[in-house]
Amino acid sequence: GRTWTDLRELSAEMKDKSVLIRGRVQTIRPMSKKIVFLVVRQNMSTVQCVLVVSKDIISTQMVRFAASLSKESIVDVEGVISVPDPKDPIKSATQQVEIHVRKLYCVNRNMYNLPINIEDASRSETEFKEAEKSGKQLVRVGQDTSLNNRVIDLRTAANQGIFGVKSEFVNEFRRRLRLKKFVEIFTPKVIAGSSEGGAEVFKLDYKGQPACLAQSPQLHKQMTVCGGFSRVFEVGPVFRAENSYTHRHLCEFVGLDVEMEIMEHYYEVCDLVAELFVAIFNHVNENCSEELEAINRQYPFEPLKYLLPDGNVLRLTYDQGIEMLKEAGVKIEPMGDLNTEAEKKLGKLVSDKYNTDFYILTRYPLNTRPFYTMPCHDNPDYSNSFDVFLRGEEIISGAQRIHDLEILTERAEKCGIDVKTISTYIDSFRHPAPLHGGFGAGLERVVMLFCGLNNIRKCSLFPRDPQRLTP
Ligand code: 4AD
Repeated sequence: GRTWTDLRELSAEMKDKSVLIRGRVQTIRPMSKKIVFLVVRQNMSTVQCVLVVSKDIISTQMVRFAASLSKESIVDVEGVISVPDPKDPIKSATQQVEIHVRKLYCVNRNMYNLPINIEDASRSETEFKEAEKSGKQLVRVGQDTSLNNRVIDLRTAANQGIFGVKSEFVNEFRRRLRLKKFVEIFTPKVIAGSSEGGAEVFKLDYKGQPACLAQSPQLHKQMTVCGGFSRVFEVGPVFRAENSYTHRHLCEFVGLDVEMEIMEHYYEVCDLVAELFVAIFNHVNENCSEELEAINRQYPFEPLKYLLPDGNVLRLTYDQGIEMLKEAGVKIEPMGDLNTEAEKKLGKLVSDKYNTDFYILTRYPLNTRPFYTMPCHDNPDYSNSFDVFLRGEEIISGAQRIHDLEILTERAEKCGIDVKTISTYIDSFRHPAPLHGGFGAGLERVVMLFCGLNNIRKCSLFPRDPQRLTP
């Protein structure tokens, strides 16, 4: 077969070499009857391809054919790599190489009007502001239009970058945990009752039995630890029948879950979170520079600060956090959960004081946590639990779990859980359960905040939210 070159491989060192590429036509600029410029795109990369009429190689029909191509058509281009003249400052600044076309084939022609234009969907706020100043009119593609036409919208460089980062993130999460001998598990997504308490469940009929989509792998990951697996993790879909339409809630997202035996203290789980996430952030920064650049070009963001000067991850207690908020004049309900606004405010205060965007808040009031959370032994109003924040928003929640059957049953009842629906879970603590703890992170939430994006829908291929079930 023929050898195909990936657009990512193109470089000035390949000057005068012949290449064969396949990509989509992004723009078509006929200059005259004799010259046409095509920009061809493949994933995150583009290259300019030039057709110039010349004896024996490119006919005027060929130039006409190129000019008549439609945007997003898939083409094969054969040509020679040329490097722009360094004396041409504009060209040499914007492109490393171009292809002087010798052959051009259309593999699949786009026959339909495009609902959105890739270039319009790729613009940054800076471009819009500049256009406004110079009185130019640019088409703004709204989020719903983008999502309604997601198959086209996904072709923008920023979107290619976002899903590249997401993939690398999961890959490294798996790899690091496997190195530590965690076993990857796959728990059922159709279960008999709510796993987190609360009303946010999608109910369904399971051959006549009431059932629901799992709100988390919480119960089964704990049951697996009771089943003799000391360290487990799962990457899988999580379903929440969210009622609120916000920038950070989806009805289906990818959960990154860990559950493990602990020896003495739930800080062992915090230690793992800190080590694991710092390693993943480092890894993504080192291995996804192209992806991050593509995201940054459309959605500029500040690089994430995730370490204290001593190389550690900041940990504060809930009470310390509340104290900081109170000192800043924020009114907080005593022993209550932090709302989004208070979280953001605390994130800002922490960032100003400690110069980090990543921290762990420990020892939450028990009444703000799910029924399975272990109360603190020195004060049962508090719990052995934590949340993790990135740029002022929650990305992870975790805790030590109650391993005593009676206390667990009592807590479930107190929290209004119908214990009958989770009886097999409760029974798994009979013979008996090890001391254990774990955490759950939302992958789209993490990627959104890591990349400084403003909406979680950008990090879900085909997002499911309270108003969206398609595409
Ligand atoms: O805080 P949550 O509900 O905790 C649990 O599910 C526990 N079982 C975790 C544990 O092991 N203790 O969800 C965990 C994370 C949140 O921190 C957030 O990042 C994400 O999942 N998350 C959502 N992401 C997108 N859309 C939603 N509706 C989300 N709800 C939670």
